[in-house]
Amino acid sequence: MDLTLKVWRQKDSKSKGQFKEYKISNISEGSSFLEMLDILNEDLVAKNEDPIHFDSDCREGICGMCSLFINGRPHGPEEEITVCQLHMRTFNDGDTITIEPWRAKAFPVLKDLVVDRSSFERIIQAGGHVGVNTGGIPDANAIPIPKEKADLAMDAAACIGCGACVAACKNASAMLFVSAKVSQLALLPQGNAERTRRVTAMVNQMDSEGFGACTNTGACEAECPKGISLSNIARMNREYYSAKIGSRQD
Ligand code: SF4
Ligand code: FES
Repeated sequence: MDLTLKVWRQKDSKSKGQFKEYKISNISEGSSFLEMLDILNEDLVAKNEDPIHFDSDCREGICGMCSLFINGRPHGPEEEITVCQLHMRTFNDGDTITIEPWRAKAFPVLKDLVVDRSSFERIIQAGGHVGVNTGGIPDANAIPIPKEKADLAMDAAACIGCGACVAACKNASAMLFVSAKVSQLALLPQGNAERTRRVTAMVNQMDSEGFGACTNTGACEAECPKGISLSNIARMNREYYSAKIGSRQD
């Protein structure tokens, strides 16, 4: 395949960025999108040019690092996959592909396509963990958990913290991410002890990081590579208001 790539280039967080156009030839349809960028970077290095900086790690759809906005969509045109799982057969020979970094005030661009997502880490640090001593490993059935709740907790735990929900949202809201992290613990008995403090701390941290408000457009759920449900946002709101009025609500 022969392609034209319009790639956002930005020297550092203080510089003004701009699109730069690259032509690339003989790309196999079986290549992944990131392999295609690797090939382009090898060409650039061979020409003594600065390679395009982008994030990736596992390249298996697990770590959430590969954050690219491709043709106006986080992670590109396919449903429920990350960029590392996207293959060039999704595109056509001769296509022009626009590649940008996540755009949100709370995710400042560091260089080219790399953004700083440490705001997500600080939200997790604020309460996205079980901080009480839960003792040794209990027998498998010592803590009864209804199957429906265990399934919902597992579904919420599928969030990989990629930030596509923020990138997709016109308000750059982090509600889907935070609600997944709140839900995965709030649904389980082990997370119950710190439930009130957790949701309050995580929502406060989210707000202080500069993420926007949720206006229920649903763009986050539509672009989430792990299919995280909007119902988690409703659950987080219930948790938050219950914490605020000092009562508990399942
Ligand atoms: S909710 Fe989905 S889109 Fe948002 S960080 Fe988690 S996996 Fe990524
Ligand atoms: S590189 Fe890990 S999810 Fe894409």
